[in-house]
Amino acid sequence: MRWVLGIESSCDETAAAIVSPDGRVLRDVVASQIAEHAPYGGVVPELAARAHLRAVVPVIEAAVAALPGGLDDVDGVAVTQGPGLVGALLVGVQVARALAWQRGLPLVGVNHLDGHLLAVQLRREGDDAPPVPYPYVALLASGGHTALYRVDAPDEVALLGQTRDDAAGEAFDKAAKLLGLGYPGGPVIDRLAAEGDPKAVKLPLPFASKKTLDFSFSGLKTAVARHVQKHGPPADEGALADLCASFQRSVVHVLAKKAVAACEAEAVPRLVLGGGVAANAGLRARARELCEQKGVALHVPPLKSCTDNAAMIAYAGALRLARGERDDALRVFSRDPKRRRGKFRRDGTLVKRRPPSSAG
Ligand code: KG4
Ligand code: ZN
Repeated sequence: MRWVLGIESSCDETAAAIVSPDGRVLRDVVASQIAEHAPYGGVVPELAARAHLRAVVPVIEAAVAALPGGLDDVDGVAVTQGPGLVGALLVGVQVARALAWQRGLPLVGVNHLDGHLLAVQLRREGDDAPPVPYPYVALLASGGHTALYRVDAPDEVALLGQTRDDAAGEAFDKAAKLLGLGYPGGPVIDRLAAEGDPKAVKLPLPFASKKTLDFSFSGLKTAVARHVQKHGPPADEGALADLCASFQRSVVHVLAKKAVAACEAEAVPRLVLGGGVAANAGLRARARELCEQKGVALHVPPLKSCTDNAAMIAYAGALRLARGERDDALRVFSRDPKRRRGKFRRDGTLVKRRPPSSAG
């Protein structure tokens, strides 16, 4: 097994990549639909599926062009089967099945979240960082997911905590929408926050002092809405920057605190950041600070590996293909089938249920 073609279409990125089972990325192609969804302030599933249909073949062609023999040099196919938007997932899965069938190639389905959790192990050109040793704790924070995992091996992952409502990226996007800053909101708020005073507006730090490793971000968005109702929209650039900085501080404070608390609770001195929110300058800085204090090694993959991409899917799939695993009948799923509330091990069994923290 030399080269695996990965295909990703779970949300608003159509992506294809060529990766080896040791994580070497030969090519990584991503077609973003951001412009398509921006007028609506969020991803519109129907539009996403149609855009995937238009982009999927050109994206695969661009990835495969990296191989001297083109498709003849592909040894296996890996495709995201969930969680994600079903109409969007079906596009990638159907193309992957057709390709595998027509070329007689082995095929595996990949859980999108496994891809994110392993993305730190990808070796891109010019990147000679050594692989991150197992086990590590991973904070995955994106537009659709926010959770903490313990990763003991590529196929042995335990959920430690997760958001009970909005994802962190979703909170950024909703706050930005409220402030008329456009979509996606994370990068804009991040940029504005750099100019503002994070202590200017008092906002809640949701779940910060609770023992749980779960998160909650929907109240924070409401707090921003209330602030705007009470004081009116920010009067000038300075007030806007202050509000963005205060909002970002709340999100980042809780994310970094729980992530490092998870390392301590698990006695794992390594933290990996992943998902689009890992691009956030405030989160990186705060995580670095806390990790230094607690003696935890912090690994932040390059941005291309944090946001949705097919290289991480190809890699997660390549490891399974190399072990001889195959998924002939591929189904798609919108929600993660095994990782809800509690800790799950390799076989999907529940190890330990964390009771929801009681009142008081
Ligand atoms: O992982 P991703 O590309 O896609 C998925 O949601 O799966 O993450 C996109 C999310 C969006 O919510 C976006 O606002 C957020 O990541 N994001 C950021 C930053 N860059 C992207 N959030 C905070 N700060 C950033 N610099
Ligand atoms: Zn993702």
